[in-house]
Amino acid sequence: MRARHAVPLSLAALTATAVAYAAGIEVRSFRLRRLTVPVLPPGASPLRVLHVSDIHMVCGQRAKQRWLRSLASLRPDLVINTGDNLSDPEAVPETLDALGPLLEFPGAYVFGSNDYYAPVFRNPARYLVERASGRHGLNGNAPATHVPRNPWWELRDAFDTAGWVNLTNARGRIKLPSYAGSSAAGTEIALTGLDDPHIRRDRYAQVAGGPERDADLSIAVVHAPYLRVLDAFTADGYPLILAGHTHGGQLCVPFYGALVTNCDIDAARVKGHSTHTTAGHTSHLHVSAGCGTNRYTPVRFACPPEATLLTLTAP
Ligand SMILES: [Fe+2]
Repeated sequence: MRARHAVPLSLAALTATAVAYAAGIEVRSFRLRRLTVPVLPPGASPLRVLHVSDIHMVCGQRAKQRWLRSLASLRPDLVINTGDNLSDPEAVPETLDALGPLLEFPGAYVFGSNDYYAPVFRNPARYLVERASGRHGLNGNAPATHVPRNPWWELRDAFDTAGWVNLTNARGRIKLPSYAGSSAAGTEIALTGLDDPHIRRDRYAQVAGGPERDADLSIAVVHAPYLRVLDAFTADGYPLILAGHTHGGQLCVPFYGALVTNCDIDAARVKGHSTHTTAGHTSHLHVSAGCGTNRYTPVRFACPPEATLLTLTAP
């Protein structure tokens, strides 16, 4: 009798330990990933781009705020924020305080659905159902009307005041200033961004035209890496696409990887550097696993919260 109960009991103990680890330790194990992406033209000086995403700030998340502030010590040439800054309508001041040191650097941003709408509880099993059905995001243009809105305009106004470029279905351009230690001064970067495809706010026609040939580099920026968006950017010839949204799968299986991507991209490209090919063109793609979670699912497993320092180089 004792042996028959031993297996379920040890399984329950293992599950409880994993949940305690995921909720108590890994979700706060912030780390910086460093990647080199050979995307610049021959002879160009390296360019250091800090990619932050999916902060999902909730009031009182002091460890995350300290870590975000510490990223300024990297002195990036450019900061790209791919959205989902909020997971609490009251957290705009703490989000801006945490991002304050990074707002001193040249930057650009797009928003994700969680910047516009307050989080709601979702059964995690729904992500598996969506993966099986191939239906992700929303069928309409916005979440149900009872979902409260976040004060996203307060983030926008603060980012804009700091000089970050708003890429919400928009194009922009940044000429990097000179400061000690940077070899990228004077580099001209053209940026093309879309609003969040996960809630069908992307309007590619508004930003059509492809890379700017007189810029030193063109970067495409979007929150959720849906295939229709990757196809459009790649077919137009953008050498680099930056995205977030997936949380790297958030709850991953050790030595296997992500089970879900929360969009239609394949699990093999759920985070990190990969490529996207369509119509004879290939783009470099970087998907950030982000550094937060929805406030109702504050767990990460085998997928620590992250930001990425991308060193862009010549081939
Ligand atoms: Fe997110």
